[in-house]
Amino acid sequence: MTSIDWSARADAYVESDAHREGADLEQLVAWAGGARTALDVATGGGHVARRLREAGLQVVTCDPAPGMHPDVICRAESLPFADGAFDVVACRTAAHHFADLAAAVAEMARVSCDRVLVVDTVFMGDEVEQAEALRDPSHVRNYTEAEWRAFLEGAGLAVREARLVRHTFDFASWLLRTGCAGEEAAHVEALLGERVAGGTLTLDKLAIRAAAGA
Ligand SMILES: C[S@@+](CC[C@H](N)C(=O)[O-])C[C@H]1O[C@@H](n2cnc3c(N)ncnc32)[C@H](O)[C@@H]1O
Repeated sequence: MTSIDWSARADAYVESDAHREGADLEQLVAWAGGARTALDVATGGGHVARRLREAGLQVVTCDPAPGMHPDVICRAESLPFADGAFDVVACRTAAHHFADLAAAVAEMARVSCDRVLVVDTVFMGDEVEQAEALRDPSHVRNYTEAEWRAFLEGAGLAVREARLVRHTFDFASWLLRTGCAGEEAAHVEALLGERVAGGTLTLDKLAIRAAAGA
């Protein structure tokens, strides 16, 4: 993994069609129903926090990049919150950047008193991994559902539900967000194969609802 300047990308992630909406975001908001407080881990452009606040939750955001303007600047692997501080701990489309996912999941489990909700791009094979890493050197890895279950259960959480959600968004904007162009972009497109069609890219996302204190 290469260290990149997320703050410099902040506006692109606020505007991003791939982040500001999607069935995965709707699923996460539905799963947070009935909760009072939430932590949005790796908030990026703040889309999870915005939607949870609209649903009436009190939300704290955190992210290591100051330019994302989180409430708290921190990495997921070391969350500066008390045990059981939030009803819901949510993390969407970010875990594939974490250097130590086991540590991050343990921290998310620790600071939740009720639910941990995770959405991330699921592992779709080595060619997609190569494409992701070429397009964005900060990509660490997408995980399979089995790997996710092992991380969550290893942190003492009980997986209650897992759903695959197809996510389609503008391909050119996706490349532009990380400055991927020219021959590199052509190579990424070739690796993604039929997932790129009609100017859009379709990736599979995994949404998981896990219970804390199980
Ligand atoms: C794709 S954006 C997040 C998208 C956002 N959650 C959403 O739903 O639109 C990825 C974010 O992960 C953050 N990030 C990278 N490494 C991290 C880490 N180790 N812990 C927490 N956040 C991290 C980046 O700063 C960036 O804001």
